[in-house]
Amino acid sequence: MLICEKKSEVREQVNAWRRQGLSIGFVPTMGYLHEGHKSLMEAARRENDRVVVSIFVNPMQFGPTEDLESYPRDFDRDSALCEGVGVDLIFHPQPEEMYPEGFCSYVDMNGLTGELCGKSRPTHFRGVQTVVLKFFNIVRPDRAYFGQKDAQQLSVIRRMALDLDLGIEIVGCPIVREEDGLAKSSRNTYLNEEEHQAALMLSRSLAEGKTLIEDGERDAGKIKSAIADIIAKEPLAKIDYVDVVDFENIVPVEKISGTVLVAIAVYIGKTRLIDNFIHKEI
Ligand code: PAF
Repeated sequence: MLICEKKSEVREQVNAWRRQGLSIGFVPTMGYLHEGHKSLMEAARRENDRVVVSIFVNPMQFGPTEDLESYPRDFDRDSALCEGVGVDLIFHPQPEEMYPEGFCSYVDMNGLTGELCGKSRPTHFRGVQTVVLKFFNIVRPDRAYFGQKDAQQLSVIRRMALDLDLGIEIVGCPIVREEDGLAKSSRNTYLNEEEHQAALMLSRSLAEGKTLIEDGERDAGKIKSAIADIIAKEPLAKIDYVDVVDFENIVPVEKISGTVLVAIAVYIGKTRLIDNFIHKEI
């Protein structure tokens, strides 16, 4: 497994693979890898000749009061996990390599980013799109893998790939959960035991929302209220949002139809956690 810190090293290796006609799968991450990331890498491993993983805590996607400094990092553990999955190359740049002096360009969009996480994190998706497009230009993958836990991010990246004719297949992979239902996240490491127990309210409330839809409820307002009522019972939880949106366009819906994303963001103490499910009307 190669570990590259420079864009030029990645380009050289990727060009060599391309000349041999090999396909490339790419998994962008911010490190502190867990089973969720592992499932993305395994999917990339199955579907491509070569697998590239980036590990980079991207400053551009953090707001001024967010957890950039304290975001967990453990490169040695991450690289061992990558090696175990059969990753071929880790790209681990320093911030100056991605954003050299004078950097002032970014990628943004008019739709999809104004709701859900975009409301409380207004510059977040601009940072995500910019870094992901840069990675795509460096790695030039055939396929790129994103987790459904960040469902809005998945929709945003799919839209960007379509709008900007990137010719990269964006593959969405299911949420991976702890045995107790908590969606895997690098930020779970911030939770103490009491907070971890409180955080189980996220998946439990969504399970209730799912049951309501499966039982025939079509009023998005009632589904949101049922979910919010359950979360409100947990004293350590503070709701950022509970919403039901059209999955493709991330626009709120009043009635359940087509493919909808039921998404929540909740503070447990100081830790902001997200979770969701997607319902496809058949
Ligand atoms: O999902 C993440 O970890 C990040 O948003 C990503 C896609 C690696 C971009 O920094």
